[in-house]
Amino acid sequence: SPPLKGKHFLHIDDFSSEELQNMLDLGLMAKGKLAQKLDTSFKPFLGYTMCMIFTKPSARTRISFETGFKLMGGEVIIPDSISIGKREPTKDIARVVSRYNDVIMARLNGHEDLLELAEHSRVPIINGLTDYNHPCQIMADVMTIMEKKGKFEGLKVVYVGDGNNIVNSWLRLSTRIPFEFTCVCPPGYEPHQGTVELAQAAGKSKIIVTNDPQEGVKGADVIYTDVWASMGQKDEADKRKKDFTDYQVNKEMMARTGKDTLFMHCLPAERPWEVTDEVIESDASVVWDQAENRMHAQNGILLHCMEHL
Ligand code: CP
Ligand code: NVA
Repeated sequence: SPPLKGKHFLHIDDFSSEELQNMLDLGLMAKGKLAQKLDTSFKPFLGYTMCMIFTKPSARTRISFETGFKLMGGEVIIPDSISIGKREPTKDIARVVSRYNDVIMARLNGHEDLLELAEHSRVPIINGLTDYNHPCQIMADVMTIMEKKGKFEGLKVVYVGDGNNIVNSWLRLSTRIPFEFTCVCPPGYEPHQGTVELAQAAGKSKIIVTNDPQEGVKGADVIYTDVWASMGQKDEADKRKKDFTDYQVNKEMMARTGKDTLFMHCLPAERPWEVTDEVIESDASVVWDQAENRMHAQNGILLHCMEHL
């Protein structure tokens, strides 16, 4: 591997809880500075360039990274189609692009491709989602919960739905920061077994995986859901709509928590499947704050991973 300038952001638990807190603090600091439109002197990335590589669709990730980096003074390059891994090997793209740019944000299908990119890049690789995880999203979610509830540690987050990339990032976060995490999913849609074991073995947080949508949501401070069929699984959508019938987040489910519960969704949301219109449009829903915080959390991640460059 080439000498790396800065740090990759590939998995949440590649960092200590102090480092994660530092990213959130930097993100909130940047959020404050960017809100003051009169003071445009905060340009830590002046003279820096970021390349963004996508092999899957995106609205939030693409727009929030581009906007955040530009607001902080940097330039952003989004190649139309470089056919990564097809026209030439991923490791060659890593070596070429990291000669031009100071940081690379990548949203790739296969997690192993992201790891290959990181192994051969001399600049930080920021994970913008793979089929395995979505760490930037969960950093934004923690920021949002802290803002809404005044704290994060010790709260009970109940994820209802498919045990997917979002869940794997929650599980990895749980090895660093203590909270309660329950994944409520239909049989056969449990999260990655090795990651559940990693989270349980860490012993930092209380981890429950259950198929019971009645008991599972009780006492939740946050109910979180995501699409039933992720990108790359859309041909399974019809089957999943049947398998997930009892796992819709609706008014009745929100009431079963017995608490004042926040509703969260990483978006895009498919209504009325994993969530009803009534819930996502309710006062309990913080999905737009969550989406906004993608930019602020990522600014913090970039500032942390590119510190001293
Ligand atoms: N939540 C999220 O990552 O959205 P996009 O897929 O639109 O980037
Ligand atoms: N699980 C979803 C998240 C989208 C942000 C997907 O991978 O499509």
